Amino acid sequence: MASSSHGPPEIAMELHALNRAKLVHSFRQYLKASSLPLFGFILLQGGGEQSRYCSDHVPLFRQESYFAYLFGVREPGFYGAIDVSIGKSVLFAPRLTEDYAIWSGKIKPLSSFKERYMVSLVCYSDEITEVLKSHYRGPGKPLLYLLHGLNTDSNKFSTPAKFEGIEAFQTDMTSLHPILSEIRVLKSELEISLIKYANDISSAAHIEVMQKSKVGMKEYQLEMIFLHHIYMHGGCRHCSYTCICATGENSAFIHYGHAAAPNDRTLEDGDIALMDMGAEYHFYASDVACSFPVNGKFTDDQRLVYNAVLKAHNAVLSTMKPGVNWIDMHKLAEKNILESLVAGGILVGEVDSMMEERLGAVFMPHGIGHFLGLDAHDPGGYPKGTERPTEPGLKALRTTRELKECMVITVQPGCYFNDVLLMPAMENPNTSKFFNQEAIERFRKFGGVRIESVVHVTSNGCENLTDLPRETWEIEAVMAGASWPLDSETIQKYKSTSSSSSSVAPEAPATEVST
Ligand code: GLY
Ligand code: MN
Repeated sequence: MASSSHGPPEIAMELHALNRAKLVHSFRQYLKASSLPLFGFILLQGGGEQSRYCSDHVPLFRQESYFAYLFGVREPGFYGAIDVSIGKSVLFAPRLTEDYAIWSGKIKPLSSFKERYMVSLVCYSDEITEVLKSHYRGPGKPLLYLLHGLNTDSNKFSTPAKFEGIEAFQTDMTSLHPILSEIRVLKSELEISLIKYANDISSAAHIEVMQKSKVGMKEYQLEMIFLHHIYMHGGCRHCSYTCICATGENSAFIHYGHAAAPNDRTLEDGDIALMDMGAEYHFYASDVACSFPVNGKFTDDQRLVYNAVLKAHNAVLSTMKPGVNWIDMHKLAEKNILESLVAGGILVGEVDSMMEERLGAVFMPHGIGHFLGLDAHDPGGYPKGTERPTEPGLKALRTTRELKECMVITVQPGCYFNDVLLMPAMENPNTSKFFNQEAIERFRKFGGVRIESVVHVTSNGCENLTDLPRETWEIEAVMAGASWPLDSETIQKYKSTSSSSSSVAPEAPATEVST
């Protein structure tokens, strides 16, 4: 991807042409394998602008992700078709009225969309029936392959395209979704460079948040620093998900920061902060979490929990490579966290017995990570024929697939002290024996720690696309004003004064981890 020294990088729009070519290739293979004729159009409807309830306020539009994947179109109200027999693409743009030109700006000619989006033809959306009928190469009623299928994270269905005159076509609602979801799982180099950019700007923004964090501030001020950074310095107008800026007890709640818990607590001395925020750039996501002490110095208890999570994070990263099973990575993270909690005196007993009782899920109720691409929780986690596990913790996994080269997946271990999970486990006769009740009492208002990085699976290992201070001493150095990456003098000073660290050497940022 071409980058400029000022402002965000240029977008290589051929990325979407490549995505379409991958789809056509896979779709034709499917048609051949099913002995179906190589005719018809793949047809998707892009997103439309929605006003806020009954008002005329229109929140900023963001394209639907499957449509963005194939066409890269940023405007609302489009349709896109791909001719399965020859692979050519047509976009259908809304015919805008004179009112648009008065209120919203110049109406672009169709030729400008053809050039920007690199398609063979652009027509108006009121011409869709006529254009598709006249370009159809097969016999009989023209066939449309429409997008309809379940998103296994949201449990919602994608909406198949609708337009006036669709009765003149035959429609197939089942073939497209699984094939398109599957090709989104393996990322091209151009996609990875956009994800890397979104991660770079998010990492830099998280560092600014850490450096500006002060006791007495509000959580939303940390959110504002992140948003300002990614937009001001990165041209990122969207985040990939709602910002989670949790401090103190709030950090025990995995998705804190929603409208009913709006990042509005005052930071107190001795709080842990859990910041989970990710910028989006040209539809591509990042998903990054950092945990740090709001006053810049880890307490012993914070260090214990933080290093438990860091050890889990690093253990997963150093094991990831093609062929590795994701459930095994979840269990590896759980095991590391439980071992550290035993070493720290919070738990007592055999870690293997704890694993059998699924105790890990009490401290980490979410999955170890998920696919990431155009969505922070990208589709393809449970293809047809695969089942979600039912055991505590494992059932929260957004995928259980074996890793493959070119997957991009997050590694997000966490350790939380949440009474809703702790109390029943401490009362359960099968698990109560594992808890040091006195030690647990110290952590009742602790909150939680999460470390999340975005990871690209390579041919023989993986590459961490997130570049952040992760060791406790690195965080303390950066929070004391050192710039990242640390220079050798700062490393010398902070590493040697560090009272303890995770037993794994700090990972060099964004480098190949081969196993
Ligand atoms: N990082 C937030 C999530 O994965 O849900
Ligand atoms: Mn995540």
